[in-house]
Amino acid sequence: MTDKEIFSTIEKAAITHELSKGEIVALLQCKRVEEDLAAAADLTRKKFVGDGVHLRGLIEFTNYCKRSCAYCGLRAANKRLTRYRLKDEEILNLAKKAKAYGYETVVLQGGEDDFFSCDRLFNIVSKIKALDVAVTLSVGERSFEDYKKLKEAGADRFLLRIETTNQALYARHHQGMSLEARKRCLENLKELGYEVGTGSLIGLPGDSAETLAEDLLFFKEIDADMLGMGPFLPNPDTPLGAEKAGSFSVTRRLLSITRLLLPTANIPATTAVETLREGGRDIMLNSGANVVMSNVTEGAAREFYALYPGKSGVHDKPEDMRGMWEEKLKSMGRFVAKGKGFRNLTPY
Ligand code: 5AD
Repeated sequence: MTDKEIFSTIEKAAITHELSKGEIVALLQCKRVEEDLAAAADLTRKKFVGDGVHLRGLIEFTNYCKRSCAYCGLRAANKRLTRYRLKDEEILNLAKKAKAYGYETVVLQGGEDDFFSCDRLFNIVSKIKALDVAVTLSVGERSFEDYKKLKEAGADRFLLRIETTNQALYARHHQGMSLEARKRCLENLKELGYEVGTGSLIGLPGDSAETLAEDLLFFKEIDADMLGMGPFLPNPDTPLGAEKAGSFSVTRRLLSITRLLLPTANIPATTAVETLREGGRDIMLNSGANVVMSNVTEGAAREFYALYPGKSGVHDKPEDMRGMWEEKLKSMGRFVAKGKGFRNLTPY
């Protein structure tokens, strides 16, 4: 594409919120569009979701996982990880603290751990809901019936990244799992009335501008409410330990295009981005993102929820983080959004 063509492609995305696969590929292959794309995404963000940034309180409640995703430190086969499970009361206590710090959404994230049966989760979710916060679950693939019960317990949202929509690539990195099953989970969650979050792992060995463009078209097709776009970070305790990390620039361009195509979606600036590059999260907040997930887990668990090495913020103090973000966002001309932070479908 010539500069002129690229410029008009960005303009088209900003006006129509539609791009063809070929256009997305062209934007992903052209590093010099990064700043223009980010500027357009930042304007779209402002217009559709405003300057408020939703802060979510994240509780990483178990690092046991029965899956074997090739990239993830929590994979069952990783014997070098110290495993932990928080007790129900510990989870509830962290949720109370999160509420006291001012968070209005609690995200319960964990590996796929059957110890946390549907009944156990039902109990935990019901008690947290009694605190008058929104609850987001991120507990992987479960049956329609489980998702239904958890919705009845009061869960509002669910995060389940598709990681990649490419069949062959999905199969290569997720032994014993299937892309169809994952898509079905997302469909079930939508049908049950959850706000649904998904997203890509960017720079997964074997991905390409084409596979990432297809991911974006899939997000648009299912009208995802939330989109977590994070770079792959090699973990030495996994089979992909020697691979190279996802690119910051590709991640940023992908996030910006995501904002342009799904203007009202809630899009976090991820911890993985901050781990890849210090200050990276702030850059994403100026490139289309409007959400930050702040880890409120305490004690040794913070360190052992090790999806990838060098995770940013492991030694931060949960009680300090909200104030820190208030200050930081103010200095960026932004502010902490009030309320539970549902997707706002009416533009500002
Ligand atoms: N690098 C970056 N992100 C990872 N995740 C898991 N392992 C890694 C890794 N090595 C992401 C996956 C998952 C989310 C909870 O963490 O995308 O969906």
